[in-house]
Amino acid sequence: MENKKLTTSAGAPVSNNQRSQTAGDRGPVLMQDYKLLEKLAHQNRERIPERVVHAKGWGAMGTFTVTHDISKYTRAKLFSSVGKKTPVLTRFSTVAGEMGAADTERDVRGFSVKFYTEEGNWDLVGNNTPVFFLRDGYKFPDFIHTQKRHPKTNLRSPEAMWDYWSLSPESLHQVTILMSDRGIPTTPMHMNGYGSHTFSFWNNDGERFWVKFHFKTQQGHKHYTNEESAKIIGETREKYQEELFGAIEKGDYPKWTLKVQVMPEADAEKTPYNPFDLTKVWPHADYPLIEVGELELNKNPENYWQYIENAAYSPSNIVPGIGFSPDKVLQARIFSYADAHRYRLGTHYEALPANAPKSEVNHYHKDGSMRFFTNDFGNPDAYYEPNSKGGAVEDPTVEEPPMKISGDAKRYEENDTYGEYKQPGDLFRMFNDDQKNRLFNNIAAAMQGVSMEIIERQLVHFDKADPEYGNGVRKALGISELENY
Ligand code: HEM
Repeated sequence: MENKKLTTSAGAPVSNNQRSQTAGDRGPVLMQDYKLLEKLAHQNRERIPERVVHAKGWGAMGTFTVTHDISKYTRAKLFSSVGKKTPVLTRFSTVAGEMGAADTERDVRGFSVKFYTEEGNWDLVGNNTPVFFLRDGYKFPDFIHTQKRHPKTNLRSPEAMWDYWSLSPESLHQVTILMSDRGIPTTPMHMNGYGSHTFSFWNNDGERFWVKFHFKTQQGHKHYTNEESAKIIGETREKYQEELFGAIEKGDYPKWTLKVQVMPEADAEKTPYNPFDLTKVWPHADYPLIEVGELELNKNPENYWQYIENAAYSPSNIVPGIGFSPDKVLQARIFSYADAHRYRLGTHYEALPANAPKSEVNHYHKDGSMRFFTNDFGNPDAYYEPNSKGGAVEDPTVEEPPMKISGDAKRYEENDTYGEYKQPGDLFRMFNDDQKNRLFNNIAAAMQGVSMEIIERQLVHFDKADPEYGNGVRKALGISELENY
């Protein structure tokens, strides 16, 4: 096969891509060597800001197939019939590490799925945990400061992490999951994904249901201990990329079963816990898992940067039949992600190949930097709305039914009569002795160097979840059980 001819980015042929143009054999480089200048200038722009969180990631393309009919809950077209297939783009990530972080560090994992549906993109931007560290988005930037580097030492700070957690008891559920075996999955394929928030479904009759999404791994759960993970990191920092990319190249396609928990709208008034509190799960006994479909990843992108780094997921991307809920963290995320994308990728990030819907797009947003697609969607006279020029019009049939809300505007104090300790305690009591011991040791390892005052404040939270929990951590830390009393 004859090689294609090298060109500049303006398409002009390049005669020599190795030698600068100089004044004489040993002379200085000429300013007019624009081909050299373009090459150097382009390199200076080969990075964009990394994601402020979830910077390190791995992803692939695939298909979502409906296996069970849930059309009585939602009119979303992607769920409209059994057998229906929707293309997806997934990205998995760790939260705190930078782009070069080692893959198998203890951290929560992101689990993002972009469904390219026939009525626009639906992004489920979840984690491998069903709960989170906080239940009000106002707290997120402060929480993330504790996970990132200390301003003076430029090191991660266990002191800051445990100071924050010990002052925020609602974090205990997520901290328990993070410090348990599930804190270091061996690959992205061996973990579950959760939408975590409560979202809503609405159907053709205008009925609303609250819903939680769960992707259950069909590969089984596999995890590393701290020691195994340290060994892996000594061998490779890119374990997840190797495993996920390698499996898909081999045709060994990973799969997850999508299940939902559905709560009738009126039940939200009756549950003993706030169903919109992101630090709580809905017990499966009360709201059983309903099977919906299968997610299969079967294609590595040809270009990582184009599809995975440029991927812009946002909880604000919903489609008719799927809605939000009063969850305060979800509400904050509806703003935060699209704002982050405009900063990270530019005004027209939704038109990049990774994010461009596979359905028709017609809007009246105009111009801006990097407007690389036509302005007019085939109708140059209709550039405002309303117009009598045949431009795109609204579709009242996709109007969401009203969401019932009420109350006085106020910064409400938490009113968590159900408490922060029941669910972490229940989770702890489900662990067997080996799992409990690993939890104690992982916590003790993560607390190395932390002030005793902070450790003691945190131990009280473990005690309140279950006295065995607190005492197990004390023992792992070498503190006498009575020392706190
Ligand atoms: C990434 C904000 C809570 C899952 C991000 C990004 C921002 C952000 C700004 C970077 C986006 C980008 O540059 O592409 C927030 C805020 C939160 C919050 C303000 C709370 C108010 C959560 C929660 C979850 C989550 C509760 C999971 C349930 C993710 C994931 C990514 C991400 C998976 C990576 C998306 C990707 O793969 O590109 N978050 N986040 N975040 N967040 Fe959050």
